[in-house]
Amino acid sequence: MVHSKIETNQTLGNLVSHQIGRARVFEWYGLDYCCGGGKSLAESCSEKGIDSVKVISELIKSDEAENKTVEVDWQALPVNKLIDEIISTHHNYLKLELPRLTYLTEKIASAHGDNHPALHEVKTVFARLRAELETHLKEEEESVFPTLRLLNSGGDFTMLTDTARGNIQKMEEEHIVVGAMLARLSSLTDGYHMPADGCETYRVALHGLMTLEQDTHLHVHKENNLLFPKAMKEAV
Ligand SMILES: [Fe+2]
Ligand SMILES: [Fe+2]
Repeated sequence: MVHSKIETNQTLGNLVSHQIGRARVFEWYGLDYCCGGGKSLAESCSEKGIDSVKVISELIKSDEAENKTVEVDWQALPVNKLIDEIISTHHNYLKLELPRLTYLTEKIASAHGDNHPALHEVKTVFARLRAELETHLKEEEESVFPTLRLLNSGGDFTMLTDTARGNIQKMEEEHIVVGAMLARLSSLTDGYHMPADGCETYRVALHGLMTLEQDTHLHVHKENNLLFPKAMKEAV
C-alpha cells in the first residue's frame, strides 16, 4: 500500500495536512496537532514519553485503512450478509466517530465560538444527532435486524411480517430526521467551509462532519433501497 513517507522531524500539523485520518492517531495518544502542531513528531513524542516508532506504525496503519477501497457488490448480497455488512461498515464507523465528533465540535465551539457563533449551534445540533443515531442503531441491531433475519431464515415466520413493516416505517421516518439534522450542520458550516482564521482542529472537525454526512447518506440508501425492500420481498 502506498503511503506518504513519515519522518520524525515532520511537524504534527504537516503530517495531518497530508492525510487527515492521522488526526485520530494523535488524538488517541494525546498529541496536540492543533496549537502544538508546529512541533515535530520526535519532540512531541519525547515530551509525552511515547515511543515515536510505535506512533509511526499506527500512522501507517491509519493511512492504509483510509486509502483502502473495498469493492462490495451490495445488490447481490443476501439479507443476512447485507445486514452484517451494514453493521460492520456503517454502524461500527458511527460508534467510533460519534464520540470523537462530540469532542471536536465542543472544542471548536469553545475556541472559535466568539468569532463564529454558528459553532455553538453546530455543537447543539450534533449532540441531538448523536443521541438520535445511537438510539436508532441500537433499535436496528436489537430489534429490526433480528426480525428481518428471522423472516428470511426459511422458517414460517409470516406472523412477523406486520411487525417488520411497522419497524421499517419507523426506521425510514428516523432516517428523514437524521437527514434533516445533517443538512442543518452543512448549512451552519457553509458547506463545511473552513474560515480563514480556522485552526487544524477546525479543519479536522469539518472534515469529520462532512464524512459523517456522506457515510450516512450511503448507509441510509443501503437500508431504504436495498435491505428493506429485499428483506420484505424475500419474506413473502
Ligand atoms: Fe443502520
Ligand atoms: Fe437506519
